[in-house]
This record gives sequence, structure tokens and C-alpha cells, in this order.
Amino acid sequence: MPYNPGMQKHIKIFDTTLRDGEQSPGCSMNIEEKIAMAKMLEKLNVDIIEAGFAISSPGDFAAIEAVAQAVKKPVVVSLSRAVEKDIDASWDALRRARHPRIHIFLATSPIHLKYKLKMTPEEVLHRAVNAVRHARSKGKNVDVEFSAEDASRSNRDFLVKIFSAVIEAGASTINVPDTNGYAMPREFGELIAYLRQNIPNIQQAAISVHNHNDLGLAVATSLAAIENGATQCEATINGIGERAGNCSLEELVMALQVRRDYYGKDRQTQINTRFIYPASRLLTSITGVQVQPNKAIVGANAFAHESGIHQDGILKKRETYEIMKAGDIGRTDSKLVMGKHSGRHALVSKLKELGYTDLTGAEIDNAYHKFKELADKKKDITEWDLEALLSDSVQQTDAAVYTLESLHIETGNKIQPSAELSVNYQDKTIQSASSGNGPVDAIFKAIDAVIHRDALGIHLLDYIVHAVTEGTDALGQVTVRVQKNRKIYTGHGANTDVLVASAEAYLNAVNKYLLRSA
Ligand code: KIV
Ligand code: ZN
Repeated sequence: MPYNPGMQKHIKIFDTTLRDGEQSPGCSMNIEEKIAMAKMLEKLNVDIIEAGFAISSPGDFAAIEAVAQAVKKPVVVSLSRAVEKDIDASWDALRRARHPRIHIFLATSPIHLKYKLKMTPEEVLHRAVNAVRHARSKGKNVDVEFSAEDASRSNRDFLVKIFSAVIEAGASTINVPDTNGYAMPREFGELIAYLRQNIPNIQQAAISVHNHNDLGLAVATSLAAIENGATQCEATINGIGERAGNCSLEELVMALQVRRDYYGKDRQTQINTRFIYPASRLLTSITGVQVQPNKAIVGANAFAHESGIHQDGILKKRETYEIMKAGDIGRTDSKLVMGKHSGRHALVSKLKELGYTDLTGAEIDNAYHKFKELADKKKDITEWDLEALLSDSVQQTDAAVYTLESLHIETGNKIQPSAELSVNYQDKTIQSASSGNGPVDAIFKAIDAVIHRDALGIHLLDYIVHAVTEGTDALGQVTVRVQKNRKIYTGHGANTDVLVASAEAYLNAVNKYLLRSA
């Protein structure tokens, strides 16, 4: 049944982490990663998942198809320009979705019309209406959203005209993007109120907003829109997205919830907030892109109290300096979770608490094996260590082509660093050695010789190292991204020895390339 805005009693969350979010540098995801993220978004209970832009690449098309099959409850969306071939591709990718939505966008601002589209307002209007009609013709259960790109810099009366025409043509959601993060909150709220009051058939559609964060105001403009009648908000986990990102899902949802007294019960979302933190961490471990420590809600310091006065206040009454509970977003107070003597059962139940409820037997075996190895080297194992091990295990359950057998490094400030390593390939050991500009460079060069990198034609795109916890025995988490043509393959490694983690992450990325490009 197409989406009926009249029945809505809450603010819908349209998550675009897998589409607009993925457009941030370093945040591209492969199909398996998108499926893992989509399943987490379903647990988070988002209403709508934008899974990609079907026409943009075969990888996006396949990811939309896969997400459409992997989730049941949320609406699954594919983005399309206002042209028939995009809409056809979106529909083909969405065929297996229980609740498909085609999202059509076309710019409406004078600057976009003049320089980018080279079209008159009448031509834009005509194209928008035809596109929406074409999408509606795909079937009874297809739901259509129309976005007026750069709406916040468009003429208000032209917006009224185009939105009423697309609603008439069958769009059930009209989206008002602040594409360049240009609007001020009050001004944007007034725009939403104006549209609500002046679009004659607005009762037949939901008003959505999609705000970027170029001036750090994406959450503020979205909240102003909600105050003025928007009932759908487009957002991303950790606020990732083009340039400075999109409206951060966790900040928006928690603002509405913490200030329920201000926004009221009809402006709440249906998000299961206990999955906010697991979703944030999963995205971080997939992409290797860390959130800033002082990021609201999900940053490492968001619940840390440094000043003595604050600590004293917290001990006397938590609410003196905390407006929400860490547990409400799925962060537990205790950092220390497990040690050497914890068993497999304890590991599985801790992982469930962290949001990993549907791991396969192989993934659990792999994680348990790594947990035992780590427990021998590191006394206190925290949630963050577990997440790092887990993302490493989940990523590495593919049959490996190359596995690291041993690594020996010589390095120092007076010698040229060198690496000697042996790698297992088809039950044979291959040895290789190289020097380099640093130990990591030496390791990667030695691996390049083993895998014949020049012949494979892949190149290294990113190398990201992150210490998972404090302390010199911290687990080092390494993400390596390699690229061939336009496809990116991401490898992960986690070890108390960051050089071993680097070698494993590189081999993992190469394995993914070899297994998935075939
Ligand atoms: O920022 C934007 O305007 C968009 C549209 C495609 C909705 O991402
Ligand atoms: Zn956008």
C-alpha cells in the first residue's frame, strides 16, 4: 500500500547513510558492508532506508537489490534523476522490496537552472511531473518522493507550483532539501510553514527535509522544520555525507526525545535508541572513519566528565551534568567487560548486548578465537576491543586467499626499516622481504611482491590506524582500502601489534578484491 501521510503520528526517519552518507570521502561501502549496516538500521527501527542511486553504478544497483531483500520492515529507496532511464533502473533494483520507494530529484533554484540544467522553470516543472508520473506507472505499491534540490535557495512560489504539480501527479512525499547547508534555522522553519500553508493539496503528501551541515546547522534547521510541520527527516549515522555531512540522525532523534517536554508526543520518532551507539560504532568499524571525540551523543567524550566540580555533581546526582543516560543510546557505563577467563557463552551474550544479534556460527567462532588470543596479551578487554575484534572477524570469514604466517620487522631511527614476511597461498608458503620509508611501507612493499600488485592493477587508496582504547597495550585497528577501476575493497586488521594489524588489513583488502571481483 502506498505510504499514507494522513495516518502518521510520529516523525519519520529516512536514513540516507548508504546513499548520501556514502558520498563522503572514505565512507564508501561494499555490498556486504551495506547489508550489515542496513540490518543494523532495521534494528534501530528507521522508517526508511535509502540504499543507493541505482543508475550510478552496477555496485549501487546490486547493493539496493541486496538491501531490499535483507530488510523487511523499512521502506527501501533508490535515488533517481528526473529521467526515465534512472527511474527504470531504480524500479528494477527495488523489485524485491516489500515497501519500495523511488526518490526523484530535480533542482529548482535559479543558479542551478541557469548554470547546471540550462532549463527554464516551465521545463523543470514539466520534467518533474513527467518523471513522477513515470514512477507512479510502475505499479500500485510504488511510493514516490520528489525532492526539489537546492530548495532553500529557490523561489518560494515556484516551489509551491512544482510541489503541488508533483503531488497531483502522484508523489506522496515532497522533500525540501537545504542542499548546501545555507539556510538559517528560523528562515528554514518559515519556508516549511509557507509551503504547508500555500500548497493546496499538501494534505495528500508528507513534508520531508534533507539538510546539509556546511554551517554546522543541519540538526537545527531540521528541528525548525519539524516545529513548522515537516513529518519526515532525512539523516545519516554519525552525520556523514557530502562535504560537511548531513543532519546527524543520533543528534536529531535525541534532541526530540530529551526535549519531549518541548516538542510533544506527536513529534517523537520510533527509533529504538538503544541501537544508536551500536549503529555508530558499526559504521566506524566498517569505514575506518572515526567520529570526533567531542561529537554529541556518540563521541568518545560525550559522557566523560573531566572537571572535579562536574564529577562531584554527577556523584551527588547524575542529572546535575547529564541530560540523558548513556544506556539509553546503548552505551554501557562500565568499560571493562571481559577477561581471560570469560567463556564463549559470555562473549555471545556481551555481543548481543552490543547489538550483534544475528552473527553466524563461523563469525562467532572467529571472534572467540581472536578474543582468546587477545586475552593472552591484554588484561582488560573492553567493549571497544570486542567491537574491533568482531568487525575484524566478520570481515574475515570469507575464505582467505592469502594469510599472514609470520612477520619480522627491523626498524629504528638510524637504520632503513625492513620487513621479512611469509604468507600462505594455496597451502604453500611464499616469502618476501623489502625495505621502505618506514616499517609500514616496507611491509606493504613486501606484500606487493607476493601478490604481484602491478599485474593485479590495484592501488592503495587509504591506510587508517586507530588505537581502540587507551594504554600502550591498546588494540590497534587498521583499515586499508584498495581500488581498481571505480571499485573499492576495504580490509580490516586488529592486533595489539599495529604492524601485524597493518599486514593483515592489507591482505584482507587484497583477498576481498580477489574473491569479489572474480
Ligand atoms: O542534498 C540534496 O539535495 C540531495 C538530494 C538528492 C535530496 O541529496
Ligand atoms: Zn544531500
